[in-house]
Amino acid sequence: MINISVVGLGYVGSAMSIILADTKNKRKNIFNVTGLDLDSKIGLERINRINTSKFPFKTSDVQIEKKLNRIKKIGNLKAKVFNLESIKNSSIILVSINFDFSKDKIKIKKNFKNYKNTFKQIVQTVKENTLIVIESTLPPGFINNILLPVFNYELEKRNVDKKLVHLAYSYERVTPGKNYIDSISNGWRVYSAINEVSKTKCRKFLEKIINTKDYPLTELENITAAEAAKTLENSYRAINIALIEEWTIFAETIGINLNKIIDAIKLRPTHNNMMFPGLGVGGYCLTKDPLLPSTSADFIFKNKKLKFNFSELAIKTNNLMPNRSFNIIKLKLQNKFRNKKILLCGAAYKDEVDDTRNSPSLILYKKLRKNKAKIDVHDPLVEYWIEAKTQVINKLPNFINYDVIIFATKHLFYKSISLRKTFSKQIFFDLNKVLSEKQIQDAHKKNTQLFIIGKGFV
Ligand SMILES: NC(=O)c1ccc[n+]([C@@H]2O[C@H](COP(=O)([O-])OP(=O)(O)OC[C@H]3O[C@@H](n4cnc5c(N)ncnc54)[C@H](O)[C@@H]3O)[C@@H](O)[C@H]2O)c1
Repeated sequence: MINISVVGLGYVGSAMSIILADTKNKRKNIFNVTGLDLDSKIGLERINRINTSKFPFKTSDVQIEKKLNRIKKIGNLKAKVFNLESIKNSSIILVSINFDFSKDKIKIKKNFKNYKNTFKQIVQTVKENTLIVIESTLPPGFINNILLPVFNYELEKRNVDKKLVHLAYSYERVTPGKNYIDSISNGWRVYSAINEVSKTKCRKFLEKIINTKDYPLTELENITAAEAAKTLENSYRAINIALIEEWTIFAETIGINLNKIIDAIKLRPTHNNMMFPGLGVGGYCLTKDPLLPSTSADFIFKNKKLKFNFSELAIKTNNLMPNRSFNIIKLKLQNKFRNKKILLCGAAYKDEVDDTRNSPSLILYKKLRKNKAKIDVHDPLVEYWIEAKTQVINKLPNFINYDVIIFATKHLFYKSISLRKTFSKQIFFDLNKVLSEKQIQDAHKKNTQLFIIGKGFV
């Protein structure tokens, strides 16, 4: 088996580790995988989960457990604290650690330094004929301008033939959720590398783990182009969301159903990826990636003239989105929150996963708390909401016990809830297109007070 190390066991690295460990050729597993993370509380938790054949995160993707059970029998996946011995013994090293964004210059320089230091340790240790594939989302130009000099210097220092250590970049497009695994294995990939040999090595590696027959790989001319592709991809999405936010306000003000309008527009193949109105943008990627090109311009290319007005405005607009939803609730309750019992359904930033990083629900939760409302939070996948420092209910309580019920996360679970009963006192807010048309109709028939984002009260 080929020894492979996955550095960083987050949402990306954990999923990659189990995909790799379950990868077969002619029914034989081909990789012996070591997942590496920090000696920190979170890092150790993730390591322990993997070593006990459990996925570190809650998600409704059934493929994960199936893969873990198969891997357990083979015993080709283990997790450890980051160590150079594992790096030394690996022929492939996959780097999927976080690169956090900050507006603070000192912090951003620290992020550069941290990433560079991890990379330096790897390069100081790798042996010849090793392939390093970086998967993290990075400011365009980071690898060529910041990491490549380290790569060249450290290998020369050790008299290692630079041509025999291969460096490539292939950003991750994973979508944690119901199709978590498929979003990696059955999805298009972009890659590039520092030279032709590295490109070939990276392509051959990706062909082993991705269904490239149905999802052919795209090779870009150089690594900077590949880094740029990732940040443009996510900037495009963030701007698309921000545009719809503008239209949501318009639609609710003049009384038109924006959801139906978008349904109609999406039928045009040129417009089929238009976003729907929602509570806000959360998670680790869309909240920072549109700001990485300006980080690149400022800190890598030292060009202060380049402006990213659309991206910056999109981030600002998207950050303010939950406030608008809060104001709608406030208006309906005539600003009387005190002693109102509110059930917030959904803490995760997206459906079918327990990831609460930058969840727009948090902004709503904090505003409701500040206004002295009594809030219970339900989420089928989140047990404890770290950012809100609150316990989350996993079994749905009876709506009768609340004054206000808010649907914030599009978990499939909420689609199974019946709204056929009569709710005369409760007010429902669907702030994220969570409910189905049938549920909306049922509520309407019973004269239930229900607000739908992008439409208003039904
Ligand atoms: N989460 C997603 O859906 C997603 C999708 C596409 C791309 N990405 C990108 O992939 C990268 C990873 O994202 P994530 O969501 O998995 O992040 P994460 O924060 O969940 O995981 C990163 C992990 O790396 C570990 N780590 C940090 N420094 C380390 C070091 N020096 N040695 C070993 N481990 C270290 C951290 O402890 C953490 O467990 C980011 O660049 C992100 O932008 C994420």
